[in-house]
Amino acid sequence: MCGIVGYIGHREAYPIILKGLKRLEYRGYDSAGIALYDGNDIKLSKTKGKVADLEERLEKEISTKGSLGIGHTRWATHGVPNDVNSHPHFSNSGNLVIIHNGIIENYDSLKKELLKRGYIFNSDTDTEVLINLIEDVMKQDGIKLGKAVQVALNQVVGAYAIAVFDKNKPNEIVVARLGSPLAIGIGDDEFFIASDASPFIEYTKNAIYLEDEEMAIIRRDKEVNIRKIKDDSLVDPYMQELQINLEQIEKGGYDHFMLKEIFEQPRAILDTFRGRLLIDKAIIKMAGIEDNMKKFLNADRIIIVACGTSWHAGLVAEYIFEDLARIPVEVEYASEFRYRNPVIKENDVVIAISQSGETADTLAAIKLAKSKGAFVFGVCNVVGSSIARETDAGAYTHAGPEIGVASTKAFTTQITVLTLIALRLARAKGTISSSDYRHHLIELELIPEKVEKALKSDAYVKTIAAIYKDVKNFLYLGRGYNFPVALEGALKLKEISYIHAEGYPAAEMKHGPIALIDENMPIVVIATKKGHYEKVVSNIQEIKSRKGKIIGIVTEGDYSVRELADHVIEVPDTLESLSPLLTTIPLQLLSYHIAVMLEKNVDQPRNLAKSVTVE
Ligand code: M6R
Repeated sequence: MCGIVGYIGHREAYPIILKGLKRLEYRGYDSAGIALYDGNDIKLSKTKGKVADLEERLEKEISTKGSLGIGHTRWATHGVPNDVNSHPHFSNSGNLVIIHNGIIENYDSLKKELLKRGYIFNSDTDTEVLINLIEDVMKQDGIKLGKAVQVALNQVVGAYAIAVFDKNKPNEIVVARLGSPLAIGIGDDEFFIASDASPFIEYTKNAIYLEDEEMAIIRRDKEVNIRKIKDDSLVDPYMQELQINLEQIEKGGYDHFMLKEIFEQPRAILDTFRGRLLIDKAIIKMAGIEDNMKKFLNADRIIIVACGTSWHAGLVAEYIFEDLARIPVEVEYASEFRYRNPVIKENDVVIAISQSGETADTLAAIKLAKSKGAFVFGVCNVVGSSIARETDAGAYTHAGPEIGVASTKAFTTQITVLTLIALRLARAKGTISSSDYRHHLIELELIPEKVEKALKSDAYVKTIAAIYKDVKNFLYLGRGYNFPVALEGALKLKEISYIHAEGYPAAEMKHGPIALIDENMPIVVIATKKGHYEKVVSNIQEIKSRKGKIIGIVTEGDYSVRELADHVIEVPDTLESLSPLLTTIPLQLLSYHIAVMLEKNVDQPRNLAKSVTVE
């Protein structure tokens, strides 16, 4: 979704904002723009397209001078992606300028009022309505920018992270948030504003994350003044020390962030269980679980809410929790759950899974579950994110920043966290024998090196990608623990190569999708030794007799599938419950290589955003 960057201080703002926008490209966007105060007036340049297009245009159009500025990458909601709808937006007088991430739901009625008062609108955006509303409040009430922003926001229904400044008061920027993230970097006599900390980590490690319904007046050389939007009460800011470093958010020699993140998985999984999986003592230690053990042990059922890849991780968790801890699990799309008036009972535990911790639907599902009295546990990657803060307790995945829009290491680390939780609960409930428990711990500890081994298939997977890159459809099949992996494999291919792909439970194939199979249809079948191997082999026979092209994901040393399949990709042997951590690797690589061969934008696929902060 949209990205916001701003700077006020003693340096040139343009290079900081431009680099910051590049760092936020991963969020997904269709246009970009920057406004700078040059000491006299506000200079603005914006365009449909990429930040690189903006850079080329801006440097011809305006002066890049000035130590106050704001920049934006826009993911269109109101109005098509074009130059005019791009941000920043001026108010009618040209005195105020704004950038905005989110949606103003009542923009239409506000616009009608402003039109009656003679305001004119150049764009189709809700944002231009907001900046003119702020201007109107300033004019009518004769008040300063900070107060006017507050009054205007109290009339607004919707979600926002905004940054505004007034050319007549070039020593301050006003920012506010409701439902969209906003971080303020605190330097020495300088301040940075951004949707996340990545644009300013080389300048400062100190940041304040605004909470919902808070606004801040940031004054050059002075402090940040934070207030509640509703009642104007002062907020004592909590300054956080950032844990991320520059290396983590750069490509580190890889062609794409997605490839870097695929190859980071052995390390990411290790980081996920570091300090939690204590193999010598045969224990799992997770503060969020220990502190709330009673709630989990008394749970009649667990409801998992998530979207996209995180929802797939939730499906894998359904198998693990039911299998090991014998707790009934329901996995819900957060977007459906939030509007379904779900039945939530006192002893239900809700687990919300989200890489970004900002997904609007998941956040809304959490709020709904809490309002019905449920205990909500979060599994997030981004530290300090909205979901991490909104949940009653939680566990971070510690995957490190995930920049590629297509989730990879977030998926495997989410499964790792959920496996640790399931094992801990199984042990506490006595639903697993101590030998089985130990066996799981030992096998889990071996997963990073087995992922490393699975990654060795990269070159071979690339040759398979070259064969199938031009097909129009793909089918992915798996059973049991590997059914969600089939769904995830199909999603990965769809989102970055734009090839239609469907994931299906292997045995369901004969109830419909089998009709699609002919000699042009590649079918990826996950057929690892543990689980329903013989059954899946029968499914492969059925595909073979209809001349489908079979790409088997098999356990090392498997020969039966090799005889039937057109290609086999081997992964190391492990327990069935841990197999998704390995079988998903070749599927990630396959989608990656196909997308690269088709010359698609792997890290920023069309129409997609990294964190979906609107409904
Ligand atoms: O940040 P979240 O995990 O809440 O995001 C959920 C989905 O938007 C996300 O997984 C999406 O499906 C990815 N593009 C998948 O690769």
